[in-house]
Amino acid sequence: MTGIVEENQVVPITLTVNGRRHRLTVEPRKLLADVLRQDLKLTGLNIGCAHGVCGSCTILLNGQSARSCVMFGVQADGAEITTIEGIAPSPVDLHPVQEAFWEQQGLQCGYCTPGMVLRSIELLRENPNPTRDEVREGISSNLCRCTGYQFIIDAVMDAAERLRAGETSDPQSDDAARAHAEKAWEVERLAPGMGEGDATPIPSSHP
Ligand code: FES
Ligand code: FES
Repeated sequence: MTGIVEENQVVPITLTVNGRRHRLTVEPRKLLADVLRQDLKLTGLNIGCAHGVCGSCTILLNGQSARSCVMFGVQADGAEITTIEGIAPSPVDLHPVQEAFWEQQGLQCGYCTPGMVLRSIELLRENPNPTRDEVREGISSNLCRCTGYQFIIDAVMDAAERLRAGETSDPQSDDAARAHAEKAWEVERLAPGMGEGDATPIPSSHP
C-alpha cells in the first residue's frame, strides 16, 4: 500500500452511527455528508452551503459538533457519529431538545433544525444553565434564514430547563444506545440491508 489512491478506487471504512456499526466502501473524495445521506440513507442532515459556513450539515463526531460537508468520509473512519435520527429515545418519543423546539416553535422551514438541535445538545451538555446571551453566542455557528433566531433561543432555554429537570436523553448514554440499537433492529427488520454490512457506494454529488 503506497498511500496513493487511484482514480475510482474505493476505500473500506467503519463508522458507528447512532450506536450501530457500519462497514462501507467509499470513494476517498466522497464527503462525509454524502456518505451519511447517500450510503446510509440518513437524510436528516441537510446540505446548505457545502462550504462549512451555515451549519445545516452538523453532526456529532465523537461527541463534538462537526460540519459533515467539509470532511471526507474516510477521515471519519473509526468514529462514533450521532445524527438527528439518533437522538430520540424511542421511535415514538422526541429528545427533550426536539420537544422544546416543537413547543417553542423554534423552526419554520426546518432546514437548519437538525443542525441547530445537535448544536444545542452539545451546548447544553457543556453549559446546562446558559443565559440567553450564551445561547445566542452558542448557536451563532448555525445560520437560520427563517426564524429571526428569537424562537430558537426560547427553545434552547426551554430545553435547558427540561434537561435540568431530568428529561435526560443523552445520545451517548447506555440507555440511549440501547434504545438506538433496538430501533436499528426494527429498521433492519422492516428494511433489510439498511444496517450493518457493505453499503453499495454511489457517486458523490460533489466534485
Ligand atoms: S452545508 Fe455544511 S456548513 Fe453549510
Ligand atoms: S427554520 Fe428555515 S432555515 Fe431555520
